[in-house]
Amino acid sequence: MPTYPALICAATLLEDNQSLRFQYQQQTGILVRHQGQLRAYINRCPHRHKTLGDGPDFFDDQSLYLRCEHHQALFSIDTGVCIAGPCKQQRLTSIAIAEREGNIWLLDWPCQSDRQSPA
Ligand code: FES
Repeated sequence: MPTYPALICAATLLEDNQSLRFQYQQQTGILVRHQGQLRAYINRCPHRHKTLGDGPDFFDDQSLYLRCEHHQALFSIDTGVCIAGPCKQQRLTSIAIAEREGNIWLLDWPCQSDRQSPA
């Protein structure tokens, strides 16, 4: 039974316009700080349900979008919606997080569909 909040990392590990991958149980998440806003998504592309990549950098070349390394789908950093690529209009699954007392905390891990990421 998961216990929340769960510590992800010290806030100082993620500066503005950086991303990192974090492990939670058997899955991974993407943590992003972009233009001062903190976001987190499950590291699973809606196209083929693979991870977007191994990170830590999940940005496209201009650091404007998150990018899946498999077929180059681009996702809005703010919303997780795919704006270009084979899964256009689908979205990454958002994760509830909070920054408190110098740390970044996982508040809840979203329920998953029955589709699992292939190995
Ligand atoms: S698996 Fe991500 S774009 Fe195809």
